[in-house]
Amino acid sequence: MNKNNNNGQRALFTTKIGVIATTVGSAVGLGNIWRFPYEAGSNGGGAFMLCYILFIFIIGIPVLCAEFIMGRGTRSNIFGAYRKLSAGKWYIAGFMGIVASITIISFYSVVAGWICEYFVRSVSGELNMATSVEYHKAFEEFSTGNWHPVIWTLVFLALNFLILIRGVTKGIERMSNILMPLLFLLLVVFCINSLSLDRAAEGLAFLFHPDFSKITPQVLLSAMGQAFFSLSLGLGCMTTYASYFSRDTRLGRAAVTTAGLDTLVAILAGVIVFPAVFSFGMSPQAGPTLVFEVLPAIFHSLPGGVVWSSLFFFLLILASLTSTISMSEISIVFMVEELKIKRRTATFVNTAIAMILGSLCALSFGVLDNMTIFGMTIFNFFDYLSSNILLPIGGMIAAIFVGWVADKRFVKAQMTDNADSTPRLFPLLVFCLRFIAPVGIALVFLNSIGII
Ligand code: TRP
Repeated sequence: MNKNNNNGQRALFTTKIGVIATTVGSAVGLGNIWRFPYEAGSNGGGAFMLCYILFIFIIGIPVLCAEFIMGRGTRSNIFGAYRKLSAGKWYIAGFMGIVASITIISFYSVVAGWICEYFVRSVSGELNMATSVEYHKAFEEFSTGNWHPVIWTLVFLALNFLILIRGVTKGIERMSNILMPLLFLLLVVFCINSLSLDRAAEGLAFLFHPDFSKITPQVLLSAMGQAFFSLSLGLGCMTTYASYFSRDTRLGRAAVTTAGLDTLVAILAGVIVFPAVFSFGMSPQAGPTLVFEVLPAIFHSLPGGVVWSSLFFFLLILASLTSTISMSEISIVFMVEELKIKRRTATFVNTAIAMILGSLCALSFGVLDNMTIFGMTIFNFFDYLSSNILLPIGGMIAAIFVGWVADKRFVKAQMTDNADSTPRLFPLLVFCLRFIAPVGIALVFLNSIGII
């Protein structure tokens, strides 16, 4: 994507594929393949899945539309969007988005760094072990070490920096447009393999059979956080991307396609992971380390495992990069457009902060594991704060803003893609933005702090 062409005008996406590929590129990443399985595993499986899907529909898609409306309608970053649409102080929500984007990129890069290490180990054949206990030990040894995880975090962020600074985001995105379908294909193959494992049925039952008694306030909050995280919602990421959509991009359709593909990838990841977890006698509640223990064991059981795992981890690095590029864009475009800082400097500042905080996150599995904030390690705190709190608050503000504050004709014109007709679902969208999303998010919050 070309952010600014030479005379300073903002460039636009020219094709439909460009729109979907970049939004899906942002949405699909570690959130689907690493975070979804571990959150589902730790939060009751089916109960979590049910709530997650529900939140995608009643909150995720409407808020995604709201962010698209704000971005395409104003052609600005999240601050500019709020400011152009209202004289009030709504733009302050943009600051929260910046904070969240930086905390997210910090812990995200640690996990992306782990993926880099596992890519190298795959290629060198080191991932071939006999038992699941060994996989567990190997990951623990690596992640609690003080050097490797930090170095990989920095390497990943440097890669992200180079792509952003050299303006080759377009190239990366084009490459990922070709390679992401390959990742999808690979996931389908792994899925079929997992379904043929001897205790696959138990895994599927765990994921798809909701035990309603397990729907606790914590499960609701985690499922909501996951829905926001996975759709890259709540901090203006999709607003920034939509500011490059062309006039005739169909926003509703783009939102449904993005959410659909993103959710599909998460479900595929779940179908790969849980049958294996049960078949290999592992615990679904392993937390953030879950997929690093399960996936290598799956690859090991496949003929030609080295090739599968190398290819998979390589594609996952790419998928992570298209996500971190989108996170970085939020604060970079903000610094460039609002603070009038040069893009180069802005990219540098963004990377430097992420490198410092990312290193702390990486170390929080090792030397810093007893340094806690509200009882959580730095890594867990960053993840919890951004996903479960800041993103839903950001999404709630966007929903209220587009539902109640922004000019109705403006919202309608954006949603109908500047045509006169009103899509049948438009009133439903407005209803979701005005009532369902804000009230739903507020209820989940109040519920989780024990007020209701
Ligand atoms: N959605 C991405 C994933 O699933 C992560 C991501 C990219 C993100 N941009 C974001 C999360 C903005 C929250 C906000 O991996």
